[in-house]
Amino acid sequence: MDILLSTLHLEDLENINLADFDDFWTKSILENELSSPTSTYLVAKQKDEILGFAGLKFLLDEAHITNIVVRKDKRNLKIGSALLEALINKAKENSTLITLEVNEQNSPAIHLYQKYNFQIVGTRKKYYNNKFDAYIMTKYFN
Ligand SMILES: CC(C)(COP(=O)(O)OP(=O)(O)OC[C@H]1O[C@@H](n2cnc3c(N)ncnc32)[C@H](O)[C@@H]1OP(=O)(O)O)[C@@H](O)C(=O)NCCC(=O)NCCS
Repeated sequence: MDILLSTLHLEDLENINLADFDDFWTKSILENELSSPTSTYLVAKQKDEILGFAGLKFLLDEAHITNIVVRKDKRNLKIGSALLEALINKAKENSTLITLEVNEQNSPAIHLYQKYNFQIVGTRKKYYNNKFDAYIMTKYFN
């Protein structure tokens, strides 16, 4: 599969129908994120089609994954893996760790992070809809 990774820009939002990805993000959250000087977003494209995107927010020496999402009809094709690998490489440039919260029920995502040696280092109780716990998953560099 011929996937190209590049920086996600505000102009790209016109070409994203968020309903094709997941129910979590709105355009305005994404606009804020893309305008933030402490965030970096990547997009996975096949020709001009957007198949996935992912973001990092930098806080002191930590890189936080804000989201990684692949179009519903393009999952299980290693696009998530390619995005995560690129985020890890970006984070390594100036952070000591990369971390995120993931819903304890989200086995595809947990599997993806474990594949890249993220460890479950803690839990946030009832973090999602006051119902499901979040795992805090972290990968330390060095
Ligand atoms: C999580 C997500 C980004 C993975 O993207 P993807 O492109 O389908 O992932 P990949 O094809 O790179 O697969 C990565 C690994 O996860 C595994 N995986 C994929 N779907 C799985 C599932 N339903 N259950 C268990 N493992 C799964 C794959 O087998 C692969 O492991 P392998 O290489 O050992 O076979 C995608 O499912 C998604 O967009 N989910 C909705 C958004 C989301 O929940 N994001 C995470 C927020 S923390």
